[in-house]
Amino acid sequence: MLSEKMQKALNDQIAAEMWSSNLYLSMSIHFAILGYSGFTSWLKRQSLEELEHAHKIIDYVVDRGGTPVVSEISVVPDGYGSALEIFEHVYEHEVKVSKMIDDLDDLALAENDKATQDFLRWFIHEQVEEESSSKAIVDKIRLSGGEQFLWFVDNSLNTK
Ligand code: FEO
Repeated sequence: MLSEKMQKALNDQIAAEMWSSNLYLSMSIHFAILGYSGFTSWLKRQSLEELEHAHKIIDYVVDRGGTPVVSEISVVPDGYGSALEIFEHVYEHEVKVSKMIDDLDDLALAENDKATQDFLRWFIHEQVEEESSSKAIVDKIRLSGGEQFLWFVDNSLNTK
């Protein structure tokens, strides 16, 4: 059985994952309009992954006898800058999400909730991957000289 505090924190994380999904969907639309199919498909995949993260937590809360809440999701920012700025934003966002997961893990530890600590291991590992994959795109754009060879970076994401 989840404590009230743990349930509330997990429900907040469900909303955060859904917000991330909308953020990446919105970014993918931005690139789709510009004609960058690689960035579009990468961000679309990320958007779907974030939804899966939300569903994972929803299922877990149900399994532990809690009540998941699908709350209102606040509007994501628009008016994006350059591709470099967008992927820097993605990377910074993932670093922030890693901190959220760490905070959840700290709470589970404080509550002596071993099942939730165990459940969160998957997310802790996943965040390493999410930070790394978004940072790799930032690096690729930088190495390609910013906007100059953007098409090549975009194309390299088509095959993944
Ligand atoms: Fe669900 Fe990208 O963190």
